[in-house]
Amino acid sequence: MTEFPVIRPRRLRTSPAMRRLVAETRVHAAELILPMFIREGAVEPVPIGSMPGVVQHSLDSFRRALHGAAEAGLGGVNLFGVPLEHDAVGSGATDPDGILNVATRIARDEVGDALVIQTDLCLDEFTDHGHCGVLAADGSVDNDATLLRYAEMAVAQAAAGTHLVAPSGMMDGQVAAIREALDAAGFLDVGILAYSAKYASSFYGPFREAVDSQLTGDRRTYQQDPANRREGVREARLDLAQGADIVMVKPAMSYLDVLADVAAMSEVPVWAYQVSGEYAMVEAAAAHGWIDRDRAILETVTGIRRAGADAVLTYWALELATRLLPR
Ligand code: PBG
Repeated sequence: MTEFPVIRPRRLRTSPAMRRLVAETRVHAAELILPMFIREGAVEPVPIGSMPGVVQHSLDSFRRALHGAAEAGLGGVNLFGVPLEHDAVGSGATDPDGILNVATRIARDEVGDALVIQTDLCLDEFTDHGHCGVLAADGSVDNDATLLRYAEMAVAQAAAGTHLVAPSGMMDGQVAAIREALDAAGFLDVGILAYSAKYASSFYGPFREAVDSQLTGDRRTYQQDPANRREGVREARLDLAQGADIVMVKPAMSYLDVLADVAAMSEVPVWAYQVSGEYAMVEAAAAHGWIDRDRAILETVTGIRRAGADAVLTYWALELATRLLPR
């Protein structure tokens, strides 16, 4: 009685209503997070060529987009600053008047009750060499000196009103250093969204345009080797031990095995970041008419949720919430 012709899995695929009822995975607006870029000095939104539909916001367009995100019922926004000036230590990151901290105050004022405001905690947008940390005399990225800057950056972001700081620099010990600094400054309720398993990926390519990255070279001495699966679990375990409130895997689609592994061991929410290159691939293929854009978008995000992500950072968050998600 356990095989064909008695058992017919197709029975559960017979109609749209049946398929909807037995779907194991759903995507809701509340578990989507929109990454946003805010460009210092911009008087109107600046399109990002490699990410059609995504812009570097002016403060005005940013305000409008925040309200759109709140009205669509998104879970949150994740903010990246695009400063005009860069220096060796990324001074703009800790300046209360730096673009990211300005944007954070605006977001908190405008929609801070409706959305979870998240801020990228990393120096690469602010350094003139484009690395995620400060450099030692020999040009290498100095892990422990960088932790001191991250601690200051965390406090600056908390003072600006962020709900969740999002360390994305893959320095060893970054979660502990940030937790300690936040607690010492009295920001006990500001959480840490840890980029735990973050791989040195070609799929960040369009992001580099999005933030006017100054980087030459690569990040392989701090971001993970794409070949390594167990190491993703190790990184997540270390971040959990250091007090991460949420752990994240990034990129998403090429790392679904890592995502599933982390989801199986984590006691805190697990998120995934569908990155710029993942967005650009689908948009480019769809623009050629090679894939059905709407179906492809929904399929990718459903796949990321199915693999174990409780929430997903995606540049399609707003479009999914307002147009693509089945209701
Ligand atoms: C580092 C950071 C990067 C991304 C998010 N945070 C770039 C990098 O690590 O090189 C990439 C996001 C994307 O590609 O969409 N601040």
